Amino acid sequence: MELKILDKTFVPYISAQEINKEIQRIATNLHENLKDEIPVFLVVLNGAFMFAADLLKYYTAPAEVSFVKLASYQGTTTTGNVTQLLGLDVDLTNKHVVIVEDIVDTGTTITALQQLINTHKVKSLQVATLFFKPEAYKQNVTINHIGFSIPNKFIVGYGLDYNKQGRNLPEVYQIK
Ligand code: IMP
Ligand code: MG
Repeated sequence: MELKILDKTFVPYISAQEINKEIQRIATNLHENLKDEIPVFLVVLNGAFMFAADLLKYYTAPAEVSFVKLASYQGTTTTGNVTQLLGLDVDLTNKHVVIVEDIVDTGTTITALQQLINTHKVKSLQVATLFFKPEAYKQNVTINHIGFSIPNKFIVGYGLDYNKQGRNLPEVYQIK
């Protein structure tokens, strides 16, 4: 079924079931990497809220969870500069940090966040993103865990918005 949000039309792209399967896989891989360490999951708001909620339910070992809020998008295009709307409120010294992102597109956001985190002396840093657009990516930060590599087309749902709408959809739609 097509979906209309404001002036745009979207078509179903990835089902809730497929998303769930990839998230379980990522949680298992993270646990295999981290073993008995107690990581800090750093969730990037707003988009990653739904991914983080599901991922962390599957990551059942001891962990800390914290949130940062960054923004680089307006409408369907990235603005290239990242603003920190809600800052890091935890000391990451000697911590194993896992960044939880909804989507890595040009990589501007993840690069800015990595630079921010590297001002702390962390023990390790890995990035988990539900979606990755390889054709749009222009940076060098290693993306350790990827749910879906997707073409360079705008998507909404499962945390991702179009002009603030669509975040609550349990599945993902692609722009028509
Ligand atoms: P980047 O800084 O260009 O990598 O963009 C990252 C941010 O842009 C993500 O965290 C999203 O909030 C947003 N974004 C990128 N691509 C999409 C998309 O296809 N749909 C919705 N939001 C997107
Ligand atoms: Mg985001």
